[in-house]
Amino acid sequence: MKTKPSKSYDKLIENNKEWAASVVKDDPEFFSRLSNVQKPEFLWIGCSDSRVPADRITGTQPGEIFVHRNIANMVIHTDMNLLAVLEYAVDHLEVSHILVCGHYGCGGVKAAMSRHNFDLINKWIRNIKDVYRMHRETIDFQTKPEERLNKLIELNVEEQVMNLAKTSIIQKSWKNKKSPEIHGWVYSLEDGLIKEVCRMTYQDHLDPLYEFDDL
Ligand code: CO
Repeated sequence: MKTKPSKSYDKLIENNKEWAASVVKDDPEFFSRLSNVQKPEFLWIGCSDSRVPADRITGTQPGEIFVHRNIANMVIHTDMNLLAVLEYAVDHLEVSHILVCGHYGCGGVKAAMSRHNFDLINKWIRNIKDVYRMHRETIDFQTKPEERLNKLIELNVEEQVMNLAKTSIIQKSWKNKKSPEIHGWVYSLEDGLIKEVCRMTYQDHLDPLYEFDDL
């Protein structure tokens, strides 16, 4: 009898069975230990790009990293999804570090530099166009298109780190707990390495316009 050709997603279920078995083989208590509680030290805010898996590239295990991903790793102050993740991570999980990780060659940032219409996605990448406008001189100073793209990718990460610092969630936590530290990183698809671009702690300051004085 001919076996039915398996669908692409069947392979994922097979992989999952193999993975679960191998984990238990190495560490019989693994699932019982993790099933009741998570206490990750890190919140990851990264791009949805399939080539930038948060745990694989950082060698972290289940339970170690709380993850939010969207197109071009944006922190937008009206994004309820991001804000709920942020508040939960900061106030309840009490993560010590937030990692905003962009990546060179990001398609979302590339789209924002173009003048193509992407319909609904226009609304999302408008925020990246604003970053470009704020730093136009620095970006246009780069001679090659690829260098301009990668400069905007770095500046966009810095801007998202500052967007986190502008939230009352972070400012309250900085005031009360002197935590978390916020890191801006950019991952290279070409060599798999992460470059540290910027860092903010409770000791850093924003334009006072964004600093609440009655928290
Ligand atoms: Co991307």
